[in-house]
Amino acid sequence: MHSDRVLIFDTTLRDGEQAPGASMTIGEKLRIAQQLARLNVDIIEAGFPISSPGQFDAVQRIAREVDGPVVAALARTMPADIDAAGEALLTGSRKRIHTFVATSDIHLAAKFGDDRYGRTMAEKRDTILSMTDRAVRQAKAITDDVEFSAEDAGRTEIEFLVQVIDVAIAAGATTINIPDTTGYCVPKEYAALFHAVRDECIRARGVVLSTHCHDDLGLAVANSLAGVLAGARQIECTINGIGERAGNASLEEVVMALKIRGQHFGTQTGIETRLLTETSRMVSIATGFAVPPNKAVVGSNAFSHEAGIHQHGVLKSRETYEIMRAEDVGQRAEAIRLGRHSGRHGLFSRLEKLGVFVPDERKAEVYQRFMELADQKKEVYDEDLVTIAQESRGGVPVEHYRLDHMHVSSGTGRAPKAEVLVHHHSSDTACRKVADGDGPVAAIYKAIDRATGSHHDLVSYGIRSVGEGADAMGEVTVLIGESGALFRGIARHTDVLQASADAYIQALNQLEGFRADRQDVEFVSDGIMQSFEGDAA
Ligand code: KIV
Ligand code: ZN
Repeated sequence: MHSDRVLIFDTTLRDGEQAPGASMTIGEKLRIAQQLARLNVDIIEAGFPISSPGQFDAVQRIAREVDGPVVAALARTMPADIDAAGEALLTGSRKRIHTFVATSDIHLAAKFGDDRYGRTMAEKRDTILSMTDRAVRQAKAITDDVEFSAEDAGRTEIEFLVQVIDVAIAAGATTINIPDTTGYCVPKEYAALFHAVRDECIRARGVVLSTHCHDDLGLAVANSLAGVLAGARQIECTINGIGERAGNASLEEVVMALKIRGQHFGTQTGIETRLLTETSRMVSIATGFAVPPNKAVVGSNAFSHEAGIHQHGVLKSRETYEIMRAEDVGQRAEAIRLGRHSGRHGLFSRLEKLGVFVPDERKAEVYQRFMELADQKKEVYDEDLVTIAQESRGGVPVEHYRLDHMHVSSGTGRAPKAEVLVHHHSSDTACRKVADGDGPVAAIYKAIDRATGSHHDLVSYGIRSVGEGADAMGEVTVLIGESGALFRGIARHTDVLQASADAYIQALNQLEGFRADRQDVEFVSDGIMQSFEGDAA
């Protein structure tokens, strides 16, 4: 089947969650599924019901509570698997059973080695054909929407792959997935599988062909796109590319490649791309897998420019160094990263964006201070700029809030709760507040927000261990933002909750300083280019 619409099949909650250490709670899965529905994915693979009670519940609740996308459940070609998938999907309105069986000789020899599956490879293959036929028919009796995957298709002999696909379609499969399970294929080879299936299996022309690529050689996105050029109209992918081993094709990358190079591919997706970054952060927080800053599309550096020549170019015309608009993927526009390589343009336009006006006669001094700081630090943050501007007017940074006391309780089956006592320096008063949250850190941050009355965005939260062993310290880095400005707090403590709270208070103090400072500065009304047109870089 050929149309210009590529269906996006998100498997973050199934293959993505198979990434070692990525397990999510049912609450997190539900929230992510709701977000995937807002993102407008076509299919959510919610889990593998037979594999555990937790997986069963997740599929059941997502099928019942999430409207919009088709909800898929994974099942081996075993009768009990298909029954469990059908039961978990029972109350869903749009449901798919996704059944799979291995087809490569390597897998057959290892997983179907027992003689009861056949003594020779030819006999084992016959067993696979009849398992496929029986499983698809069983699934078809539950729902019309049945997907079949030939596991390790990337290393399966093509004649047998075509044969098994033909059997699956004859039994009622409406989507045929051709996975590169081990991430072994290169794009030309992977595309050739789709051409061969379409050329040699007439039935395959009436169903949706799907890609499912793993990233063992870093080729998952390239292979998925090669599959689309070869006629695939469904891509299986995950947010941030999480998944087994090196992961799966990353949703944000395939979607943006299809969008930005729309003419090349001649296809489109229905994805609401402005929600990509928000969704990426949500998955990163739920799994604890940080998004690398240089990650395409959703990384914090994806739209940042540090070199003076790049900054100057981007400030004049974004097309010089950007192929997509940051806002279109939900990122902040024109993230000019200030560091040692930045020029005057970059510095003063950033200060201008922050609402800080620097009169001409003070520019040389501010720039000089900035360069001294940039020599000592990798990156100069907005809070540093505000401090520089404050200091050059003779001011001193003020501590606005102090955390006097904190108590956190959490336990199995109970929502974490935090109580904080925050001292306000301006009024010399203390405010005690309580809040609960999805996790202890979320509860602490909500209680602190209540105690300070601050409204801002939590842009990122990162934690790393400093030192080794049980008494290693946790170092927490928090970024919060308001009106496009970013404020950072870093704190270390053997108690990571204390470090989380301290870092947050530090960032809030920076933000409060910025707010206070902004009240007594003049705002510039001219656009960046007007103010700095002709200024030397
Ligand atoms: O990688 C794979 O082959 C899979 C199948 C279950 C589709 O995840
Ligand atoms: Zn997979």
